[in-house]
Amino acid sequence: MKLLLTGTTGQLGTAVAEIAPQRGVRIVPLVRRARPGQIPFGRAFPSLASAQVTGDVREPLWGLAEADLDELAGSVDAVVNLAGDTNWAGSGRDLYAVNVLGARGGHEVARELQRRSGRRIVHVYASSIFAAGGTLGRIAENPLGPDRHRTAYEHSKWLAERELERMHTPGDPDVLISRVAALLGDSRTGATRRRNSLYLLAERWDELPGRVLPAMRGAKVDVLPRDTAAGTLLDAVAGLLRSGPRREPVITHLSAGERAPTIRGLLEVARALSPQSFGKWLRIVPASAEQVLWLSGNAERYLPLSPAWRNSIIGLRYIGLDRVMERGRLAELVDGPLPDPSTELLARLLFDLPEPQRPTAPADSGLSRFLA
Ligand SMILES: NC(=O)c1ccc[n+]([C@@H]2O[C@H](COP(=O)([O-])OP(=O)(O)OC[C@H]3O[C@@H](n4cnc5c(N)ncnc54)[C@H](OP(=O)(O)O)[C@@H]3O)[C@@H](O)[C@H]2O)c1
Repeated sequence: MKLLLTGTTGQLGTAVAEIAPQRGVRIVPLVRRARPGQIPFGRAFPSLASAQVTGDVREPLWGLAEADLDELAGSVDAVVNLAGDTNWAGSGRDLYAVNVLGARGGHEVARELQRRSGRRIVHVYASSIFAAGGTLGRIAENPLGPDRHRTAYEHSKWLAERELERMHTPGDPDVLISRVAALLGDSRTGATRRRNSLYLLAERWDELPGRVLPAMRGAKVDVLPRDTAAGTLLDAVAGLLRSGPRREPVITHLSAGERAPTIRGLLEVARALSPQSFGKWLRIVPASAEQVLWLSGNAERYLPLSPAWRNSIIGLRYIGLDRVMERGRLAELVDGPLPDPSTELLARLLFDLPEPQRPTAPADSGLSRFLA
């Protein structure tokens, strides 16, 4: 399988690039012309440098050169768009340009490659489970309706999904809309490209006003280590390529789904693993969905908040709502078990907790029998 991949330098893209060779997946990364202040692509990903093409997802046909389109048409099987503006407190205009125009451009690129080559090419768009806005309960892998609670970021991801559903016509490339859960670092090393607002919960532990965390009873935290998400995404792309043509975009939840821990469970496991890592303990205060959504969506109207704090407050809704992302469609595509990260692993990654020290038997052989 060969992919035209955007967002290679991001949290999810980095993980895809890391595991691709083990899976026999080849990657052509689309890299922006100008990336001021960032490590040059060739230095960060030396093994992919020679394969890269230049472009920008905000431009028509992603700004790809004619020669690159010809070359890609003859070789890639899927256009995988992991580029995104992921600033939860970003401007609506920027979010729209990257997330919505980028999705539209991705479909045009896949269409063009399919037209030029006559081969079947699929289009994969990384959406977000947060496109669900304020929806509660069991959330199906189906198109979502309008919702007054969406933040600008959530709205942009929802609009992108709608745009793909609107554009898709018979004979078009098949579309996989993969709604991604919140991502933590690598499950083995903890390495993370960015620290999203869930990490800010850990960083702001000692600063939370009143030491309280408002959350619905039964609120869940749907997160995955980034390598787990990347592996399952590649499995789903392979599954879509194996299956027959689809009349409509396929929507899946790339998430922990029904296996996601509750916020209470996650925090208690973290405390049990390393009590000395936490200062004063937080109190989880039961709140209604309306309260969690209102606070996370409107606090900045009344309080002077820095962008980092705005991101953190928005993040409250990602740990404070009681809902479950269904994964039936994901199971149909993925040939193997669905992601099932242990609560202990998630707590360790989120709070950067040390590995447990295994007790060693004391030298006194008389005592060591009691430790067996
Ligand atoms: N991480 C999460 O917790 C999470 C949760 C749910 C959904 N998602 C979705 O999953 C996708 C990947 O997220 P991520 O966390 O990996 O993102 P990320 O770490 O913020 O990285 C964003 C990536 O997009 C690229 N990019 C941004 N604007 C671009 C443009 N105009 N043209 C081309 N590339 C552009 C960036 O490239 P540069 O290196 O050039 O800046 C970077 O590689 C996004 O669609 C996001 O909405 C992520």
